[in-house]
Amino acid sequence: MQDAVMSREKLLRKLEPAGQQHLVRFWDELSPSEQARLGKQIAALDLDLFAQLKLQAGASTKSNESAGAHQAKWAAIAARALPPPAMKLDGSGVNFTKEEAIHCGEQALRANQVGMILVAGGLGTRLGCNEPKGMFPIGPLSGRPLFQVIIESLLAVRRRFGTPIPLYIMTSPATDDVTRAFLAKHNYFGLPAGDVRFFCQATMWAVDDRWEKILLSSKSELALAPDGHGGMLKAFENNGCLSDCEKRGLKYLFYGQIDNPLLQVCDPLLLGSHQLATSEMTTQVVRKRDPLEKVGVLAEVDGKVQVIEYSDLPEEHARQTLPDGSLKFWAGNLAVHVFDVALLKRATVSATALPFHIAHKKTPYINDLGEQIEPEKPNSFRFERFIFDLLAEANHALVVEADPAEAFAPVKNANSEKTDNPRLAKQAMMALHRRWLRTAGVKIGDDVPVEISPLFAGSPQELAAKVASGAIVREPTYYSPTGPVVRHPSPDS
Ligand code: UD1
Repeated sequence: MQDAVMSREKLLRKLEPAGQQHLVRFWDELSPSEQARLGKQIAALDLDLFAQLKLQAGASTKSNESAGAHQAKWAAIAARALPPPAMKLDGSGVNFTKEEAIHCGEQALRANQVGMILVAGGLGTRLGCNEPKGMFPIGPLSGRPLFQVIIESLLAVRRRFGTPIPLYIMTSPATDDVTRAFLAKHNYFGLPAGDVRFFCQATMWAVDDRWEKILLSSKSELALAPDGHGGMLKAFENNGCLSDCEKRGLKYLFYGQIDNPLLQVCDPLLLGSHQLATSEMTTQVVRKRDPLEKVGVLAEVDGKVQVIEYSDLPEEHARQTLPDGSLKFWAGNLAVHVFDVALLKRATVSATALPFHIAHKKTPYINDLGEQIEPEKPNSFRFERFIFDLLAEANHALVVEADPAEAFAPVKNANSEKTDNPRLAKQAMMALHRRWLRTAGVKIGDDVPVEISPLFAGSPQELAAKVASGAIVREPTYYSPTGPVVRHPSPDS
């Protein structure tokens, strides 16, 4: 029985060599269930990794010095980086045409070779909601949550090409239970349950910024946080998703984030370009609208395509232009990728795949006196893996440009912020759907709110087959799966 809860002595034997015995300082004050929880967290602690990361960060380096070294490293990378080789919007930059790529992507879909990964481990904290971000209502007229918007796009592709694209949803410990319950309650918004698989990402601890103590968030819990969307790689394998892909004979995985309602789910152009360029990892980008836009940028560094995160790109490099006046780092990361299943399989066994990025952040913690401390400035290091670092593992990587008006409406911040907020995302959705209606021959003013479910029509061509050319739309209209209905927008649309 004692062993089931883990004895304090046994835990101390693990912690002492790494100088982390403070983690059981409050052991005798804890209830048996609290002891069990803390014991489990400590048992899962990888102290070799702790030692390795400590070494990597330079144990004796003070935090402000290491921040300087970090900036210098990225300034040097940015200085020798080149714009990435890319298929541009006009189709230039590759030795095949857009039509050929679309055809090839459609064939892969019809041959049941494609699956989808959706990363949804984040809470909507920055949006002012404490639920999984996927539950945030984004349909400007329908109020459909992000999960529904994206799953309906997937359903539409499945129907169009008659293929059972399985959906692998990454959750985090904070979103797992609620996400599963929410999607089950809504019958997976129409997807067969057998084609939906959840996998929960792992967590990482935080350490004080002298690299001495791993932090406790309470007397019975480590200060844990999700290990970044790069945690997907291990979690995908550990939860049996990779072997599920192999069982189903999938060759390609389309990857997207939950926070983009304009996500072009399983886009045949992207899938086909990936194949025709014999790429192992392909990334969709948009031309940055502003040099300081908060998107990572794709670049070629020492012959390899990689992402330089916006927070790492020094401002003078972000503003740098080419002789024709255009931005050097033009290619903004949409966080939309296509992976070869074979690349994921190879990378899960490669020790070098996906390094940890170390961030200096504020982490509330319990001090040695048992007091709760709310730091006013960054006091700790935290660790995340980024999936885009997998580009370095790919034998060949491709960048494909998309039109931001068709592919990117990030939902990151509350409406009180100027950028990437739900109001702008809803406006972008409505503007796109008005354009589709006009292409289909419908007359509609710029002030008329519209929204189209992909289960009604997923493109201007599908729309043209369903609406009367020459018709005039004057009322706010939601083209629901069963047909158009008059609906008024939510107040913030
Ligand atoms: C991210 C990209 C940035 C890109 C932008 C496009 C990173 C580090 N940066 O920025 O290059 O231009 O998106 O929108 O990714 N998530 C998890 N688990 C985690 C962390 C994140 O599932 O541990 C999911 C979140 O639910 C979210 C997405 O990944 O949907 C993006 O994460 P976030 O931290 O919001 O990245 P950004 O800073 O917005």
